[in-house]
Amino acid sequence: MTHSTHEQHEQAAVIGQRAAEDRTPVTVIGLGPMGAALAEAYLNQGHPTTVWNRTPGKADELVARGARRADSVTGAVTASPLIVVCLKDYPAMYGVLEQAADGALAGRTLVNHSSGTPEQAREAVGWATGRGAEYLDGAIMVPVTAVGHPDAKILYSGPRAVFDTHRTALAAMGGTTYLGAEPELAVLYNTALLGLMYATLNGFLHSAALVGTAGVKAATFAELAVDWFLPSVVNPIIVAGVPDVDRGRYPGDLGNMEMNLTAIDHVLHTSAQQGIDTDHPALLKALAERAVAAGRGGENYMAMAEVFRGRRTGGAGGG
Ligand SMILES: NC(=O)c1ccc[n+]([C@@H]2O[C@H](COP(=O)([O-])OP(=O)(O)OC[C@H]3O[C@@H](n4cnc5c(N)ncnc54)[C@H](OP(=O)(O)O)[C@@H]3O)[C@@H](O)[C@H]2O)c1
Repeated sequence: MTHSTHEQHEQAAVIGQRAAEDRTPVTVIGLGPMGAALAEAYLNQGHPTTVWNRTPGKADELVARGARRADSVTGAVTASPLIVVCLKDYPAMYGVLEQAADGALAGRTLVNHSSGTPEQAREAVGWATGRGAEYLDGAIMVPVTAVGHPDAKILYSGPRAVFDTHRTALAAMGGTTYLGAEPELAVLYNTALLGLMYATLNGFLHSAALVGTAGVKAATFAELAVDWFLPSVVNPIIVAGVPDVDRGRYPGDLGNMEMNLTAIDHVLHTSAQQGIDTDHPALLKALAERAVAAGRGGENYMAMAEVFRGRRTGGAGGG
């Protein structure tokens, strides 16, 4: 069974269990587009759901559907053992939760889906445990419309026992992927996956602009590119190449960095000749040149890993 199939089975089992279990009361703090979707998912799954938002009117629709409106942060926090926070950022979370009465958080579990940095996630553990609360950090990797579906990717980090205690209730929001005990893991994965997403989207959009110079519509290009790109090329290269990345050894017998640098140079020059922006391929070329300058011209393309590791491992990047 593949990892993802195994995970899907596990998630299906968790969702299946839900039908037979009592529904944990849940409080959702923060009713922007995402927080409102999380609260709605809890209502849909039959959880007693308490909601609080700085701008109270945003709770009206949820209250009409059966949510209980808390009139204060203390009331919100003390209504449930599980408190899901979905605010703009960590400072907003502290600004709200510090309005709660002393001792209100003690014995409860805080699951924070607000956007932040690894350092902020680590600090939040001390903040929560200092108030007697357990803390999980969560990262929602799907748009609002996917929340509540079992295949919605939601990542968690923090103490395993705390995650296990609440896993069934957390599954109301979507698929539950546990990353590990280090609190910053969810935020770190979130940032890494977003970096991957933006780099990939920029790659597609630059390429669409390139064929667009011949009057090809982006939708026409996508018909070919979508099938070719991830399933036929990028995914197999990643799967075959990640052992090299983890070992730090990059045999170039099937294709090497010099060959790739020539190909990237063609992307750069063709972009210039066709009159489109060249910043994207220029960056690709500059990065590949650094790998070659560091003596990796004969290694395979995955040797770029050493450029990106930079100062951390004394790799090719340096500074
Ligand atoms: N929307 C998405 O597609 C999506 C996807 C994945 C993850 N996320 C994450 O989910 C979190 C929430 O996102 P969102 O889309 O719902 O909207 P958002 O604009 O990031 O956050 C809106 C929420 O934060 C509250 N807020 C902002 N500043 C505040 C402050 N100083 N004090 C108290 N409350 C404050 C807002 O209250 P008011 O209503 O009173 O302004 C509202 O409840 C973010 O961290 C975001 O990164 C969102």
